[in-house]
Amino acid sequence: MRVLITGGAGFIGSHLAQACLARGDEVYVLDDLSTGSLENLREAKENPETAGRLFVHVDSILNDQRLMELTGICDVVFHLAAAVGVRYILDNPLLSIRVNIQGTEKVLEWCSKFRKKVLIASSSEVYGKHLHAPLVEDDNIIYGPTSRFRWSYAASKLMDEFTALAYHRTTGLPVIIVRLFNTVGPRQTGAYGMVIPRLAAQALAGEPVTVYGDGKQTRTFTYVEDVVEALTGLMDHPGAVGEIFNVGGTEEISIHDLALRITAMTGSSSPVGLIPYESAFPKEFEDMRRRVPSIEKIRALTGFTPKTGLDAILEKVIAHIKARGA
Ligand SMILES: NC(=O)c1ccc[n+]([C@@H]2O[C@H](COP(=O)([O-])OP(=O)(O)OC[C@H]3O[C@@H](n4cnc5c(N)ncnc54)[C@H](O)[C@@H]3O)[C@@H](O)[C@H]2O)c1
Repeated sequence: MRVLITGGAGFIGSHLAQACLARGDEVYVLDDLSTGSLENLREAKENPETAGRLFVHVDSILNDQRLMELTGICDVVFHLAAAVGVRYILDNPLLSIRVNIQGTEKVLEWCSKFRKKVLIASSSEVYGKHLHAPLVEDDNIIYGPTSRFRWSYAASKLMDEFTALAYHRTTGLPVIIVRLFNTVGPRQTGAYGMVIPRLAAQALAGEPVTVYGDGKQTRTFTYVEDVVEALTGLMDHPGAVGEIFNVGGTEEISIHDLALRITAMTGSSSPVGLIPYESAFPKEFEDMRRRVPSIEKIRALTGFTPKTGLDAILEKVIAHIKARGA
């Protein structure tokens, strides 16, 4: 099969590319390297069994010509390219909206013209500021005002979902929407505010480990290889078309406890300190207190369940950061 992965040089995309190559697919990557990197694809490029089936195009999903060529030759499309990460969104507000809304529309338009099945990577951010758990796919959503720019990411992913569903309803385009909850693993960078690599890098460097707010906000984490298994499982399952699925872990932990666990696992003597959101983000910043998925829907359809527990995830991320010398 020929697979197009937009954002394939990114964190999740590069792991997905390797999984598709491992099962014998030809993989086409379209990535502008804004937050991704060719280094993420080095292993696949250097593996003689996969190198000849990996084709990397450094370009934007906003380039219609390139998108047309690649969508035309591929059988299925995993659309992962996006402006990602709260910090990146706050630093690049206009570009983020353009890439996440116009870019996704273009991907859907070309998939529709060529009748190609497409999986859209959405986000748990779409749920907004819920306090209840677990979050179910057809829950209501609650956002802050438009003056609080962090919600633009959630709203852009929400528009991606509406647009994908509208294509499905009006043109019969086979679309699958996946709401990813915090995904972690090797190659994720802490540079754009991702919590585990940021805290682990601080602990390993012997710097203070900084937790925002009161640290009582909770998250679940999923290992990237589990997420990749969920994505390929959904793409391969005819029953997934036209549907939305949560993909995430089930072990809820507060960020303060996470920081303590990371310092213990790294053997670091770094102190864990709370810093107010105002010191790290613009004044009007709002965080989500809780984000826990129900994964019953995907479990019922494909049998997916995450295999990697939090301690194993942390061990792998810490080992990766040590190896890269960060
Ligand atoms: N990592 C998570 O926890 C998480 C959670 C929810 C949703 N997601 C979604 O999963 C997808 C992948 O995220 P990731 O964590 O791998 O982040 P990432 O930043 O590593 O990957 C995004 C990739 O898209 C590329 N990109 C950005 N703009 C582009 C453009 N205009 N044209 C072509 N390529 C472009 C980047 O260079 C990068 O390689 C995103 O759609 C993201 O919204 C991720």
